[in-house]
Amino acid sequence: MLITIEGIDGCGKSTLMGGLEAALSDINPLFTREPGATWIGDQVRRGIAEEIDPIAEALLFVADHAAHLAEVIRPALAEHRLVISDRYSDSRYAYQQVTLAPLFPEPLLWLRSVHGNWTVRPDRTYLLTIPIADALDRLDGKDGREHFERAEVLEQVQKNYLALAEEDPQRFVLVDALQEREKICTFIAGDIRNLWQSL
Ligand code: TMP
Repeated sequence: MLITIEGIDGCGKSTLMGGLEAALSDINPLFTREPGATWIGDQVRRGIAEEIDPIAEALLFVADHAAHLAEVIRPALAEHRLVISDRYSDSRYAYQQVTLAPLFPEPLLWLRSVHGNWTVRPDRTYLLTIPIADALDRLDGKDGREHFERAEVLEQVQKNYLALAEEDPQRFVLVDALQEREKICTFIAGDIRNLWQSL
């Protein structure tokens, strides 16, 4: 079973992943992430830092996804593991739709066709939503902001996420990221456990 966690920068995903590791340790999920589960992820981070061409950047994220599927996700699913990924294809659909918008029309269609029919659809996606001002406050202490971490970008990225969720309400679960951390973690861990046990 494949679970993904999505949301804009500053929504609290990293804290949540740490909480889920502790809360679900008895069922031994495989925790993974995009970008960064393979060496291609290092190149992606370099691309982000250097603000390379948006098409090159988008394709690096896709390359990371392909390697992630081949090396981590498909083997784990073949062993019937529970896989929980911090970011996945919806990050491309939400973020690269923004970075590619100035370059050509219909970037979402392009991104979807680049993923073609080789990607694996998540069974459930938790989308953490947060007012942009609160997300930026949380990012304030962080060194070296990435080019995505600007109010106007994050605003559009979150809109894109919400549109994706509206299109696919059976897969997406929206979670208010302003709730107490522990409450968020308890709710998501409980929901994942129910889904896992219902298989
Ligand atoms: P992280 O902060 O979750 O490690 O992700 C790094 C940045 O990369 C974050 O700003 C979101 C962005 N990103 C994309 O733009 N597209 C993608 O496909 C992924 C996985 C991340």
